[in-house]
Amino acid sequence: MTDLVTLEADLLAQVAAAADLSALDAVRVAAVGKQGAVSALLKTLGSLSPDERRDRGGQINGLRDRVQTALNDRRAALETAELDRRLAAERLDLTLPAPHVRRGAVHPTMQVMDEMIAIFATLGFAVAEGPDIEDDFHNFTALNFPPKHPAREMHDTFFFEPDDKGERKLLRTHTSPMQVRTMIAQKPPIRIISPGRTYRCDSDQTHTPMFHQVEGLVIDRNIHMGHLKWTLETFVARFFENDQVTTRFRPHHFPFTEPSAEVDVQCDRSGGEIRIGQGTDWLEILGCGMVHPNVLRACGIDPDEFQGFAFGMGVDRLGMLKYGMPDLRDMFASDVRWLSHYGFSAFAAPNPASGLS
Ligand code: DAH
Repeated sequence: MTDLVTLEADLLAQVAAAADLSALDAVRVAAVGKQGAVSALLKTLGSLSPDERRDRGGQINGLRDRVQTALNDRRAALETAELDRRLAAERLDLTLPAPHVRRGAVHPTMQVMDEMIAIFATLGFAVAEGPDIEDDFHNFTALNFPPKHPAREMHDTFFFEPDDKGERKLLRTHTSPMQVRTMIAQKPPIRIISPGRTYRCDSDQTHTPMFHQVEGLVIDRNIHMGHLKWTLETFVARFFENDQVTTRFRPHHFPFTEPSAEVDVQCDRSGGEIRIGQGTDWLEILGCGMVHPNVLRACGIDPDEFQGFAFGMGVDRLGMLKYGMPDLRDMFASDVRWLSHYGFSAFAAPNPASGLS
């Protein structure tokens, strides 16, 4: 009997002394495991008389149960202690300021597009969007490009492989095909702008193979160059947020307009930067003109009844000018440092009433 008392005291002391779960498990195996001390005791029962076996068996089982209970209690206590330790170690003080994390920003091109849409919306223009993949008719033919016009050549245009019918689709080289799509789908009066992606096989400091344009189109009765000039001058002043901006309409050629003009803004390039609204230099910012009668006819509109003007401008280039970005290629390099430097807050949507930028 004394050996059992000693063994129990010893085992309970070991259980109590186990400092962690793995130490406790080692004690469990040594005490009540298959090869453990209690199993060894049980094996000795076979050599006893039935009476002795009953008494001693009961004592050994009692010992085993008490040791097992102590093991369970100790395990529960150690697990609770471990949980408390982790909770204390991983505690977060939610009242502390959050650490700085990089947030997304609105790309300058999208900001500038939204600014343009906001300005033209106040002038009564709707937004018309169309496909990036175009056909020859909408991109060139209906816009009065002569059959051998150089802009149709591989040099400028990304063509797809010819399809079963021998037709070569292309990535639109400008947003002007939306003039054609709109005039075919809608009756005048028409007043739309069409923002979107455009593609040309070109890359240098001021050209990227993918860029963005906003096209404008107004078709109605008695429309003349005066309407065009007022609309664009109003746009330029609001876009650059500067009433002093001076514009210059320079004669030019586009197949789809007659007469055609390029618009320059007065600027100062002397300090290495371009400053709008001062100086003696000029910078070209857009193309425009009166819609060519052939274009109206190709879209089913009678040029003797309706006239219109159109314009097209590079969104990225206007963004470079307004926000001082030196290289167009950086715009599409996906460098997060550039994006967080030049990007805009998603909460500051352009609004002509409260300020554009
Ligand atoms: N489509 C021309 C281009 O990409 C821009 C343009 C010029 C559009 C004159 C027009 C326009 O609508 O009237 O270079």
